[in-house]
Amino acid sequence: MFFRQLYDAASSTYTYLLADERTREAVLLDSVFEQFARDSALVRELGLRLVATLETHVHADHVTAAWLFREALGSDIVVSARSGVEGATRLVSEGDVVRFGGEGLTVLATPGHTDGCLTYVTLDRQTAFTGDALLIRGAGRTDFQQGSASTLFQSITEKILALPDTCLLYPGHDYAGRTVTTVAEERAWNPRIGGGANERDFAGYMDNLALPHPKKIDVAVPANLRCGKPESGAVPETATWAPIVTTYAGIPEVDAHWVHDHASAVTVLDVREKDELTGPDKRIAGAQHVPLGELRARLAEIPSERPVVAVCRSGRRSAQATVILRESGRKDSANLAGGMLRWNALGLPVA
Ligand SMILES: [Fe+2]
Repeated sequence: MFFRQLYDAASSTYTYLLADERTREAVLLDSVFEQFARDSALVRELGLRLVATLETHVHADHVTAAWLFREALGSDIVVSARSGVEGATRLVSEGDVVRFGGEGLTVLATPGHTDGCLTYVTLDRQTAFTGDALLIRGAGRTDFQQGSASTLFQSITEKILALPDTCLLYPGHDYAGRTVTTVAEERAWNPRIGGGANERDFAGYMDNLALPHPKKIDVAVPANLRCGKPESGAVPETATWAPIVTTYAGIPEVDAHWVHDHASAVTVLDVREKDELTGPDKRIAGAQHVPLGELRARLAEIPSERPVVAVCRSGRRSAQATVILRESGRKDSANLAGGMLRWNALGLPVA
């Protein structure tokens, strides 16, 4: 099974992308609203078809991107039947299986952090996604959102730590850079519930954490109860001047056909060396020429009235040109995807 662990630094949230390598069907666990562009770019670049976004629970510290993904890619939204979430595609309970291609995730109900907390387990029971029920050397707090240390104790000991010793456990968060653990490891070393702790030991620890109120809870919980749909009901607007596609590398790009059709509305900025302009890759008529190495010093020469599309041979140097332009404040700039190689492959006109 294809597997990627993604991280949102602002909320210390892990998002997981899983896929059947043969059918390319994929699911995304615990997506983050602000990471929609990054994660949808990865899905696109890897040639995956996102069939569903899954939530381990209603998060209090970040907003899910589930609704954004359904709007953009038609993916199902899977949440717990006990979550209270409205507008999901599918409500799941203990024992249900979420399938993607020949792969699947079995649902375990692991309440205690919230009523609707789920753990998703792969069909071979060798990997589990525990959300905020069990964290690496920790456990999700139980002092808000229907939290109960007693319920969480049962969930962890009877469900999660009952998985095979070697089962890998991937949490919903980590605040110290740890990425994965195992059942055996947590049973031995978890300071809250490992080492033979009983319910009283666990509850004593959990009830005395005195954690600060989560900063985003008043925004995140209501939004997550709507699957992350913004209050306005509209997809947040990104660039208006062109159909920009941001790559997983974070580079905003425009398609060669669009640039050809809108050549008069943009400045095409060729950042190759002078000798390349007369070389076999040709050049786009009317393009302004500033070699990449001179761009920082010559930014003032680029007209401010029109958006800028940077081009080079393969789209690599012009990607860096786009970074430089954006850093200088030119948010209306983008890279010509694939550069002159793609432009020529498409048979678009050259000077
Ligand atoms: Fe949580």
